Amino acid sequence: MPDAPILQVTDLSVEYAAERQDVRAVDSVSLWVGKGEFVGVVGESGCGKSTLLFAIAQLLSPPASIVAGSVSFNGQNLVTMTEKQLNVLRWRDYSVVMQSAMNALNPVISIGAQFRDALQAHGRFSAADIADRSGEVLALVGIDRVHLKSYPHQLSGGMRQRAMIAMALLFTPDLVIMDEPTSALDVVAQRSLMGQIRELQRTLGFAVLFVTHDMSLVSHYSDQLLVMYAGQVVEIGLTRTVFDTPAHPYSRGLLDAFPSVRGERRRLTGIPGSPPSLGRPPSGCRFHERCPVAEAECTTEQPELYPVGEVASRCLLNRPPAVKG
Ligand SMILES: Nc1ncnc2c1ncn2[C@@H]1O[C@H](COP(=O)(O)OP(=O)(O)OP(=O)(O)O)[C@@H](O)[C@H]1O
Ligand SMILES: [Mg+2]
Repeated sequence: MPDAPILQVTDLSVEYAAERQDVRAVDSVSLWVGKGEFVGVVGESGCGKSTLLFAIAQLLSPPASIVAGSVSFNGQNLVTMTEKQLNVLRWRDYSVVMQSAMNALNPVISIGAQFRDALQAHGRFSAADIADRSGEVLALVGIDRVHLKSYPHQLSGGMRQRAMIAMALLFTPDLVIMDEPTSALDVVAQRSLMGQIRELQRTLGFAVLFVTHDMSLVSHYSDQLLVMYAGQVVEIGLTRTVFDTPAHPYSRGLLDAFPSVRGERRRLTGIPGSPPSLGRPPSGCRFHERCPVAEAECTTEQPELYPVGEVASRCLLNRPPAVKG
């Protein structure tokens, strides 16, 4: 690790409070993001990806709350900051792009006015400066500045997502957190937007923490990969390494569900069954009920994250021999 990481998440846990039983949607997750790095987060629907990103960005609202852990961003723990302190960092030092820009953008305010509000939250800028910067970031994502006058509904879905990304780049933050920013788009628009995000990231130097269902997207774009299952990290490491030699059976299942990314043609096997309820996770390894290589102890023994070469894997089969027995 040459530089200190921009983002260091340590043992972060999030619970949704419920009458009968709290749901731990994020269970002791640790990760780090280096300067300018692209970190992908993958896993099936409901495994806690969005909850994790919201928790990192300090955007959770009740019934969800962080129950343990820290989020160190440029050396400061966001978890213990006040809203006022967080507002100093938001947009300027880190920004968030959500799954649906339609929900994130205010429908009754023009794009330009929303950009202006975000800018003015961080200082006094002249009308000319605001117009310049807003036009500049729109141009970055390939939208003509005339659309500063447009309202969200006047833009296509792809343009709205681009406008959201432009807004996230108003201050050229150190970190942009993205929750499936391209999932609402068709495949062609998705590819082109991803290419743009990657290009901007390379030229502007910001780091990206990126959630997606799409293994082929992360295989093309991410440096590090975090595979989540039932609220936990099951494998984390360099994307290339995880793709070439996935250590965790769940990672192998995910990769088998997307045959094209591994080159050769193979039968689409995917993963049988569905993820467990997070309110009552299975005993032992959370994946054991669906795991093709599960052994007897997997039903009772909870695996930790074990180092396997350059990655870490939460599988008892990857437990180092010294720890066994
Ligand atoms: N409002 C809520 N109240 C209670 N539990 C919730 C709530 N929202 C989410 N959860 C729980 O948190 C888990 C994780 O949800 P989350 O939205 O983070 O998953 P995700 O990985 O982002 O899924 P997707 O891929 O579908 O976006 C869910 O499985 C659910 O059990
Ligand atoms: Mg989600």
